[in-house]
Parts: sequence; structure tokens; C-alpha cells
Amino acid sequence: MIDLRSDTVTRPGRAMLEEMMAAPVGDDVYGDDPTVNELQRYAAELSGKEAALFLPTGTQANLVALLSHCERGEEYIVGQGAHNYLYEAGGAAVLGSIQPQPIDAAADGTLPLDKVAAKIKADDIHFARTKLLSLENTHNGKVLPRDYLKQAWEFTRERGLSLHIDGARIFNAIVEYGCDLNAIAQYCDSFTICLSKGLGTPVGSLLVGDKAWITRANRWRKMTGGGMRQSGILAAAGLYALKHNVERLKEDHENAAWLAAQLQEIGADVMRHDTNMLFVRVGEPAAALSAFMRERDVLINAAPVVRLVTHLDVNRQQLTEVVHHWQAFLQH
Ligand SMILES: Cc1ncc(COP(=O)(O)O)c(C=O)c1O
Repeated sequence: MIDLRSDTVTRPGRAMLEEMMAAPVGDDVYGDDPTVNELQRYAAELSGKEAALFLPTGTQANLVALLSHCERGEEYIVGQGAHNYLYEAGGAAVLGSIQPQPIDAAADGTLPLDKVAAKIKADDIHFARTKLLSLENTHNGKVLPRDYLKQAWEFTRERGLSLHIDGARIFNAIVEYGCDLNAIAQYCDSFTICLSKGLGTPVGSLLVGDKAWITRANRWRKMTGGGMRQSGILAAAGLYALKHNVERLKEDHENAAWLAAQLQEIGADVMRHDTNMLFVRVGEPAAALSAFMRERDVLINAAPVVRLVTHLDVNRQQLTEVVHHWQAFLQH
């Protein structure tokens, strides 16, 4: 199967599995799993922050971040299409009594700071207290401009807000910026990293921030059921991914650009491509296209604008096959 639905679909390779099998483990709820501790230490070191916390999923990492930044009756300003507003089942509202204040993102994936400013509530008994700005980088594959990150950071300092970044795909941004993680991480209070997307682990995310805040987050992780035991087996995959699978994300970006150009050439309506994602307008035949592809061992979602995602389990040869099948569909 050639699976282009998401970069979450990758399977661990032999080298990663060997690291997992060899990992020394302990009980992480007691804080004594050496591999989890090493992963957390390494992530903190890479980002220039004080501490990190290993969690099962990106959704839980975002939830724990929101619970750790905001109290009941407080709010976070977030993009309408952001994962931690739209795609996490309203967790912060349901479990934390935290109110989202969504706003439209600009075309480049940023939340314009004048629009954010207009939504910050006055100190008035009628309103929830605005506490946090939450950004996503990358957002739908778009890399937020570096100078915007600095501006957002300075803005939140001036306005007394905290700044969280959903960095599920932060390393896709990092390889595009061509800088180290700490050059970007300095412009937020906290951020997440998903290890199980482009980085290729089966499971796992990290939440990164300062020490006191991560201690607070650890309590929320426990409360929300994310305290795992011999999770060093999973953390070993994370360490492997951070050491071996970051630089290669460039290949995924090149493959996405290549696929976009090839599909365009055969007459597909490619809207745009960014990092490891491309978006193709297919309109009404979406379900037929998806079924046609499935019969040829290619998995794509059935949507009028279909998102295709490249990752470490698809190579150029397989993408050539995808283009070939796509052309056959357009001609049939
Ligand atoms: C931007 C973003 N944030 C967070 C998540 C959540 O990650 P998980 O699927 O591990 O819960 C995703 C998952 O697709 C995502 O795309």
C-alpha cells in the first residue's frame, strides 16, 4: 500500500525496533525510567528549555498544555482550523472549563496580531480571562515566518499572555528554516513535538517548557491518564527518531514538491504544496478517485480538496506510480 493520507501512518523500521527492544526501562510514574528520562533531557537540551515531558499523543500533549496554562474560566486564543481547537473533541472546554476564542488564520498560517489584540478581553466580570495565545507550526504544512514568531513572542510579553505552540510538525519547520530548534523555541513558553508523524515513531509526543511548568503538566498528565510505566520502550523510538529522522524530512518536502509538479503537469488542480503536504482540488469525483486509487493499492482520503502527505514510508518510485494512476483516472 502507498498511503498518502497522513504522515502518521509510518511503521517503525528495523533499526528503530532494535533500539526499542534494547531500551533500559523502569516505572516512569515513579520517574525512574532511564530511557524516558533521557528522551526528556535530550528534547529539553535541543530546545534550550529547562524540561520536557513524554506523553502518548499530540492531543494529550496539547490538552495538558492548555490545562497547565489556563485555569477554569480562562480562555485561549487559537486558530479556527487549529488542531487544538477543531480536532481535539473540545477537550480543554470539556475537561478544563477553558474557553477557546477562535480567530481566522491568515493565508500564511499566522494569527494576525491585530486580530488577536482585538479579542483580548477587558478585565470585566462578564468576560472569561484571556490567558494564552496558541499557534500551530507548521499549520496545514505552512511554515510560520520566523520574524512572526518573534513578534508574537514580544506581543504576548507586552499583553501578559502565555504563548504555546502546537509543534506537531515543528521539525518540518526547522529543516526549512535551516536553524536549530532552540532558535525557534526561545519564542514560546511551551511547545509540543509529535514523534509519531514525520519523525516516524509508532507512538509519542513531547511537551517542552520551563521546569516549574512541566512539574505542573506532569500532574495533569497523570490525571488525564497519560502516566505510563515501562514507556522507555516507546521513548527509545523517540530518541532514535530525534537522532536519525530529522534531517531526512527534507526528502519528504522534496517529494511533495515533485508530486505537486507532476500532478499539475497531467492536469490535476493542485492548489498548493508546503513542506510535506499538498492539496489537490478534485471536486465531486473525490469518492470515485479514492476508490479507484484504493483498487491500485494507493490510499488517499475522499475529500473535494484532498490532502496528500509524504513521509518516510513513500519513495519517489511509489510516487511515480501514484502519478501514473492519477493520470489513468483523469483519462478514464
Ligand atoms: C497539528 C497537529 N497537532 C496535534 C495533533 C495530534 O496528534 P495525535 O494524533 O498524536 O493525537 C495532530 C495530529 O494529526 C496534528 O496534525
